[in-house]
This record gives sequence, C-alpha cells and structure tokens, in this order.
Amino acid sequence: MNDPTTIRRLYGRRSGHKLRQGQAALLEELLPAISVPEEGPVDGRTLFGGDRTLHFEIGFGSGEHLAFRADLLPDHGFIGAEPFLNGVVGALTHVRERRLTNVRLHMGDALEVLERVPDGALSFVYLLHPDPWPKARHAKRRMVNHGPLDLIAAKLKPGGEFRLGTDDPTYCRWSTMIMNAREDFEWLAESAADFLIRPGGWPETRYEAKARRKGHEVWYFRYRRR
Ligand SMILES: C[S@@+](CC[C@H](N)C(=O)[O-])C[C@H]1O[C@@H](n2cnc3c(N)ncnc32)[C@H](O)[C@@H]1O
Repeated sequence: MNDPTTIRRLYGRRSGHKLRQGQAALLEELLPAISVPEEGPVDGRTLFGGDRTLHFEIGFGSGEHLAFRADLLPDHGFIGAEPFLNGVVGALTHVRERRLTNVRLHMGDALEVLERVPDGALSFVYLLHPDPWPKARHAKRRMVNHGPLDLIAAKLKPGGEFRLGTDDPTYCRWSTMIMNAREDFEWLAESAADFLIRPGGWPETRYEAKARRKGHEVWYFRYRRR
C-alpha cells in the first residue's frame, strides 16, 4: 500500500450521545446477527450464502444511503462500515424498519474489511461526504488518497463504479486532482450537470441535507473502474 498511515488509523469520534434502551437492544440483538464476520474472506458466499452483486459503503454515517440502496436492490448484497456507534444504531434502525435482509455491517474501519474482500468482487463502492480534514498537514488522513484508492480499485471489478460525494470545496478540488492522476478510473461526467445535480438512485443523506441548509454546494462524482 502506498499510504499506510491512512489505511491503518481511525480518526474522529466513535460515540456521541447516550443510547436509549431500544437502541441498545438493537446493538445487542440485531448487530451480531448482521455483522461482517471478524475473520476470513468477505464475499457473497460468506455473507449471503451465494454469489451476489456486491456494494460497499465506506463511512455510512447514519445509514440512509445504504438502506435506500439495499431496499432498491433487494437481490444485491450491501456491506457497510462505520466506526461511529450512533451511526451504526441509525443504520440498524433502518434495517429493522425496512426489513432488509441484504445488509451486513462492520462497526469499525472500512479499510480493514475492504482488504478482506476478494479482488474484483465489488460492483459499487460509495464514499459520501468523507471527513474533510481541511488542514493541508492532515491531507494524508483524507480517504481520497492513493493508498485507499489502490485498495478500492483492486476490489472493484472492471466496469464497477466508485461514487464520491462532498460539500467541501477543498476536498472537491483535492479529490478531482487525485482522481485525475489515476489511470484506473474513468470520470463519468459529460457535462457540469453530471456532478452538480444528484444522480438518480443516489439519495440525500442527513449530512448532505444539513450541508444544503447551510447553503453549501454538493458535488457528485461517479468513476468507472477501467
Ligand atoms: C462527514 S461523515 C459522513 C457520513 C455519511 N457518509 C453521510 O453522508 O451522511 C464521515 C463519516 O466517515 C466515517 N469514517 C471516517 N473514517 C472511517 C473509516 N476509516 N472507515 C469507516 N468510516 C469512517 C466517520 O465516522 C463519519 O461517520
């Protein structure tokens, strides 16, 4: 890996406000039932008992996007990783309310799970509003760096898609620069509308709604793995 500092460290908060009783029960009962196993390969067979089109979301926040996509595509398998406890509870709540059977979660570092996915096994990888790390000296911590991108590229099948959303102008410029330097991804934008208007099937997350309320612009990037 080119960038082990980003791969190997988790940054930021892991828990926020105290959980209510029902939320604690979700964590105790539903999470173990749908957790990614702690060891071994992470593929359709081990997670869902057979081959499936697989999607992977890095840092799913409260899980709105993951749950929406899983509901939309019930025959596909969805893997989400998020270290933030209250976010995991949010995702579990969506899974229960929508009665989703095609979602598996990991409470922790997405890259640790991604490493265990066989090469070329994923059809989609989502990275929505990654932590911006706006200071230049923290740029190495940004998820959009060649180390994590090499891993994402390895796990996507040719023709698979990497979706990235951000409302942070610095991150937008940074990721465009990093992605443009890569030969293994093709940017699927033909006009400005393709990255200024949220594509169909890409729901708004709570984070994005908050960003819009603050008057931020949001940019949507879709890249095809060559
Ligand atoms: C700004 S939030 C956006 C959340 C969500 N994607 C959304 O759009 O609402 C960034 C999220 O990335 C998560 N995150 C940061 N590093 C991560 C990592 N290595 N693996 C998984 N999630 C990570 C954080 O915990 C946080 O919830």
